[in-house]
Amino acid sequence: MNSASIGVFDSGYGGLTVLKELVKALPGYDFIYLGDNARTPYGTRSFEVVYEYTLEAVKYLFSQHCPLVIIACNTASAKALRNIQQLDLPKIAPDRRVLGVIRPSIEAVSAITKTGHVGILGTVGTVTSESYPIELEKWSGGRVVATVQEACPMWVPIVENNEIGTEGAEYFIQRHILNILAKDSQMDTLVLGCTHYPLLIDTIRKYVPPHIKIIEQGEITAGKLVDYLQRHPEIDNRLTKNSQLEFQTTESAANFESKAALFMDRKVEAVHVKI
Ligand code: DGL
Repeated sequence: MNSASIGVFDSGYGGLTVLKELVKALPGYDFIYLGDNARTPYGTRSFEVVYEYTLEAVKYLFSQHCPLVIIACNTASAKALRNIQQLDLPKIAPDRRVLGVIRPSIEAVSAITKTGHVGILGTVGTVTSESYPIELEKWSGGRVVATVQEACPMWVPIVENNEIGTEGAEYFIQRHILNILAKDSQMDTLVLGCTHYPLLIDTIRKYVPPHIKIIEQGEITAGKLVDYLQRHPEIDNRLTKNSQLEFQTTESAANFESKAALFMDRKVEAVHVKI
């Protein structure tokens, strides 16, 4: 019998920061991670292209028998998730589900902020989509009164090219943190609104004052997924639970394995796939 895994998708390696927490929270479940490394980064691409690539990835994970797909990428969640949920799913797979990372973060931020002033760090795509300010206004129950954003276009390439901890990385991290701090002095919560950014956390922390809470999405997304599965037994019952973890990439498997080990803190075996 085929496994019915939870599919986890990102444009590259960033989603592994989410996968790691999902596996911790749901150790018995089966997962397939798909990184579209051949076409990363998505952050600077148009709405149409991100939507097209993300839909291809979701369809591919459905073809791998995943009843549930987590889009562990803010850019894809911002630009493609709503269309996929509302337009595509009813036609291609009405009994399957696709979830993103923005909604869980909105709920967490709304519960944490005291001043109601929130900062979002993300890719150019996520920031210009305005998804965070729009969703925070809609879903925070009035608890978030001001949202400032800062696009950090160099941060994903720093991670993808393993420049973490270099002088160049330090420069770009400091620059964008100082920019966002200057935008709102009452900000008390700062969202790492890109799944690559937790890899830069040590340097980010050096420039963020300690009274500002930094939100990483892995643990939050995992907690919300546990809750979702409890509320949706019709999906949960279809998921196989043999603790299997598969890694698939649209780029070279060898490249993926060496870099992914960094994210996962463990040895990774990957296969190359065409989607
Ligand atoms: N990790 C993705 C995100 O969360 C962005 C990476 C990219 O630009 O492809 O937004």
